[in-house]
Amino acid sequence: MHPQIKKILVSHEEIVNKCEELGKELAKDYENEDKPLLVALLKGSIPFLSELIKHIDMDIKIDFMDVSSYEGTESVGDIKIIKDLDTSIKGVNILLVEDIVDTGQTIKTVKQTLLNKGAKSVKIVTLLDKPSRRVVDIKADYIGFEIENEFAVGFGLDYNQLYRNLPYVGVLKDECYK
Ligand code: IMP
Ligand code: MG
Repeated sequence: MHPQIKKILVSHEEIVNKCEELGKELAKDYENEDKPLLVALLKGSIPFLSELIKHIDMDIKIDFMDVSSYEGTESVGDIKIIKDLDTSIKGVNILLVEDIVDTGQTIKTVKQTLLNKGAKSVKIVTLLDKPSRRVVDIKADYIGFEIENEFAVGFGLDYNQLYRNLPYVGVLKDECYK
Protein backbone atom coordinates (compact mmCIF):
# COMPACT_ATOMS: atom_id res chain seq x y z
CA MET A 1 0.00 0.00 0.00
CA HIS A 2 1.19 3.56 -0.75
CA PRO A 3 2.67 5.15 2.43
CA GLN A 4 0.33 8.15 2.13
CA ILE A 5 -2.81 6.01 2.05
CA LYS A 6 -4.81 5.63 5.27
CA LYS A 7 -7.30 3.03 4.06
CA ILE A 8 -8.49 1.31 0.93
CA LEU A 9 -12.10 1.94 -0.08
CA VAL A 10 -12.22 -0.27 -3.16
CA SER A 11 -9.59 -2.89 -3.96
CA HIS A 12 -8.20 -3.56 -7.42
CA GLU A 13 -9.88 -6.95 -7.48
CA GLU A 14 -13.25 -5.40 -6.64
CA ILE A 15 -12.80 -2.86 -9.44
CA VAL A 16 -11.95 -5.52 -12.02
CA ASN A 17 -14.89 -7.69 -10.96
CA LYS A 18 -17.24 -4.71 -11.11
CA CYS A 19 -15.99 -3.75 -14.59
CA GLU A 20 -16.72 -7.29 -15.75
CA GLU A 21 -20.25 -7.00 -14.33
CA LEU A 22 -20.84 -3.57 -15.87
CA GLY A 23 -19.37 -4.65 -19.21
CA LYS A 24 -21.84 -7.53 -19.46
CA GLU A 25 -24.75 -5.31 -18.45
CA LEU A 26 -23.81 -2.70 -21.05
CA ALA A 27 -23.44 -5.24 -23.87
CA LYS A 28 -26.89 -6.57 -23.00
CA ASP A 29 -28.55 -3.15 -22.71
CA TYR A 30 -27.20 -1.98 -26.09
CA GLU A 31 -27.82 -5.33 -27.80
CA ASN A 32 -30.64 -4.03 -29.99
CA GLU A 33 -29.46 -0.41 -30.13
CA ASP A 34 -26.92 1.50 -32.19
CA LYS A 35 -23.63 0.75 -30.48
CA PRO A 36 -22.49 3.58 -28.19
CA LEU A 37 -19.63 5.99 -28.46
CA LEU A 38 -17.90 5.98 -25.08
CA VAL A 39 -16.96 9.52 -24.12
CA ALA A 40 -14.41 9.56 -21.32
CA LEU A 41 -13.78 12.70 -19.34
CA LEU A 42 -10.06 13.41 -18.94
CA LYS A 43 -8.09 12.67 -16.96
CA GLY A 44 -9.67 10.82 -14.06
CA SER A 45 -11.74 8.33 -16.03
CA ILE A 46 -8.83 6.82 -18.02
CA PRO A 47 -7.99 3.84 -15.75
CA PHE A 48 -11.71 3.03 -15.41
CA LEU A 49 -12.26 3.30 -19.18
CA SER A 50 -9.26 1.05 -19.86
CA GLU A 51 -10.50 -1.64 -17.50
CA LEU A 52 -14.16 -1.36 -18.47
CA ILE A 53 -13.77 -1.68 -22.26
CA LYS A 54 -11.90 -4.98 -21.87
CA HIS A 55 -15.18 -6.43 -20.62
CA ILE A 56 -17.60 -4.91 -23.16
CA ASP A 57 -18.19 -7.55 -25.78
CA MET A 58 -19.58 -5.36 -28.61
CA ASP A 59 -18.26 -2.94 -31.23
CA ILE A 60 -17.86 0.34 -29.39
CA LYS A 61 -15.92 3.49 -30.25
CA ILE A 62 -14.17 5.81 -27.80
CA ASP A 63 -13.50 9.54 -27.67
CA PHE A 64 -12.37 12.02 -25.04
CA MET A 65 -13.41 15.35 -23.61
CA ASP A 66 -11.69 17.58 -21.10
CA VAL A 67 -13.77 20.12 -19.25
CA SER A 68 -13.26 22.41 -16.29
CA SER A 69 -15.56 24.56 -14.28
CA TYR A 70 -14.99 28.29 -14.44
CA GLU A 71 -13.24 29.54 -11.37
CA GLY A 72 -15.23 31.50 -8.85
CA THR A 73 -18.62 30.53 -10.15
CA GLU A 74 -21.08 28.15 -8.63
CA SER A 75 -23.60 28.30 -11.44
CA VAL A 76 -24.56 25.11 -13.18
CA GLY A 77 -24.01 25.01 -16.91
CA ASP A 78 -20.82 27.00 -16.72
CA ILE A 79 -18.13 24.64 -17.93
CA LYS A 80 -15.22 25.37 -20.18
CA ILE A 81 -14.46 22.78 -22.86
CA ILE A 82 -10.69 22.29 -22.92
CA LYS A 83 -10.75 19.40 -25.35
CA ASP A 84 -13.82 18.68 -27.47
CA LEU A 85 -14.84 15.48 -29.25
CA ASP A 86 -13.13 14.58 -32.54
CA THR A 87 -16.32 13.72 -34.45
CA SER A 88 -19.93 14.79 -34.82
CA ILE A 89 -22.31 13.05 -32.42
CA LYS A 90 -25.57 13.83 -34.22
CA GLY A 91 -27.83 10.81 -33.79
CA VAL A 92 -25.23 8.90 -31.80
CA ASN A 93 -25.83 6.96 -28.58
CA ILE A 94 -23.33 8.28 -26.05
CA LEU A 95 -22.09 6.56 -22.93
CA LEU A 96 -20.33 9.09 -20.72
CA VAL A 97 -17.53 7.57 -18.63
CA GLU A 98 -16.68 9.33 -15.34
CA ASP A 99 -14.41 8.59 -12.40
CA ILE A 100 -16.79 10.01 -9.79
CA VAL A 101 -20.09 11.84 -9.58
CA ASP A 102 -19.79 14.25 -6.67
CA THR A 103 -22.00 17.36 -6.73
CA GLY A 104 -23.16 16.16 -10.14
CA GLN A 105 -22.65 19.51 -11.83
CA THR A 106 -19.94 18.36 -14.25
CA ILE A 107 -21.78 15.34 -15.57
CA LYS A 108 -25.13 17.10 -15.72
CA THR A 109 -23.69 19.94 -17.78
CA VAL A 110 -21.72 17.67 -20.08
CA LYS A 111 -24.79 15.51 -20.64
CA GLN A 112 -26.87 18.55 -21.58
CA THR A 113 -24.08 19.82 -23.88
CA LEU A 114 -24.02 16.49 -25.74
CA LEU A 115 -27.81 16.40 -26.05
CA ASN A 116 -27.71 19.96 -27.42
CA LYS A 117 -25.25 18.76 -30.06
CA GLY A 118 -27.81 16.24 -31.24
CA ALA A 119 -26.82 13.02 -29.48
CA LYS A 120 -29.56 10.42 -29.76
CA SER A 121 -29.13 9.39 -26.13
CA VAL A 122 -26.70 10.07 -23.31
CA LYS A 123 -26.17 7.55 -20.55
CA ILE A 124 -23.66 7.77 -17.73
CA VAL A 125 -21.36 5.13 -16.28
CA THR A 126 -19.29 6.10 -13.25
CA LEU A 127 -16.76 4.19 -11.18
CA LEU A 128 -17.75 5.99 -7.97
CA ASP A 129 -20.80 7.82 -6.73
CA LYS A 130 -21.06 10.13 -3.73
CA PRO A 131 -24.82 10.69 -3.55
CA SER A 132 -24.62 12.58 -0.25
CA ARG A 133 -22.80 15.45 -2.02
CA ARG A 134 -25.28 15.98 -4.84
CA VAL A 135 -26.47 19.55 -5.48
CA VAL A 136 -28.17 18.99 -8.82
CA ASP A 137 -30.69 16.38 -9.88
CA ILE A 138 -28.69 13.78 -11.78
CA LYS A 139 -28.16 10.05 -11.42
CA ALA A 140 -25.71 7.84 -13.25
CA ASP A 141 -27.27 4.96 -15.19
CA TYR A 142 -24.46 2.58 -14.20
CA ILE A 143 -22.60 2.90 -10.90
CA GLY A 144 -19.54 0.97 -9.81
CA PHE A 145 -19.42 1.79 -6.10
CA GLU A 146 -21.28 4.18 -3.84
CA ILE A 147 -18.93 5.79 -1.31
CA GLU A 148 -19.33 7.95 1.78
CA ASN A 149 -18.49 11.65 1.80
CA GLU A 150 -14.72 11.19 1.89
CA PHE A 151 -12.12 12.48 -0.56
CA ALA A 152 -10.99 9.51 -2.63
CA VAL A 153 -7.78 9.04 -4.63
CA GLY A 154 -6.45 6.33 -6.90
CA PHE A 155 -7.56 4.50 -10.03
CA GLY A 156 -7.70 7.83 -11.87
CA LEU A 157 -8.71 10.08 -8.99
CA ASP A 158 -6.13 12.64 -7.95
CA TYR A 159 -5.16 15.01 -5.20
CA ASN A 160 -3.07 17.81 -6.74
CA GLN A 161 -2.62 15.57 -9.81
CA LEU A 162 -1.01 12.78 -7.79
CA TYR A 163 -2.14 9.22 -6.95
CA ARG A 164 -4.00 8.61 -10.25
CA ASN A 165 -1.82 5.54 -10.86
CA LEU A 166 -2.77 3.66 -7.68
CA PRO A 167 -4.44 0.36 -8.67
CA TYR A 168 -7.12 0.82 -5.96
CA VAL A 169 -9.29 3.62 -4.54
CA GLY A 170 -8.29 4.86 -1.11
CA VAL A 171 -8.25 7.73 1.34
CA LEU A 172 -5.16 9.82 2.10
CA LYS A 173 -3.75 10.24 5.59
CA ASP A 174 -4.85 13.49 7.26
CA GLU A 175 -1.26 14.84 7.25
CA CYS A 176 -1.40 15.01 3.41
CA TYR A 177 -3.86 17.89 3.59
CA LYS A 178 -1.72 20.06 5.88
P1 IMP B 1 -18.82 17.22 -9.62
O1 IMP B 1 -19.05 18.15 -10.76
O2 IMP B 1 -18.91 17.90 -8.29
O3 IMP B 1 -19.69 15.99 -9.67
O4 IMP B 1 -17.32 16.82 -9.66
C1 IMP B 1 -16.83 15.83 -10.42
C2 IMP B 1 -15.33 15.92 -10.47
O5 IMP B 1 -14.73 16.41 -9.26
C3 IMP B 1 -14.79 14.53 -10.64
O6 IMP B 1 -14.75 14.19 -12.00
C4 IMP B 1 -13.45 14.62 -9.99
O7 IMP B 1 -12.51 15.08 -10.93
C5 IMP B 1 -13.60 15.63 -8.90
N1 IMP B 1 -13.85 14.96 -7.60
C6 IMP B 1 -14.98 14.93 -6.90
N2 IMP B 1 -14.86 14.20 -5.76
C7 IMP B 1 -13.60 13.73 -5.77
C8 IMP B 1 -12.85 12.89 -4.88
O8 IMP B 1 -13.32 12.38 -3.83
N3 IMP B 1 -11.56 12.63 -5.21
C9 IMP B 1 -10.99 13.14 -6.34
N4 IMP B 1 -11.66 13.91 -7.21
C10 IMP B 1 -12.95 14.21 -6.93
MG1 MG C 1 -13.18 14.29 -13.27
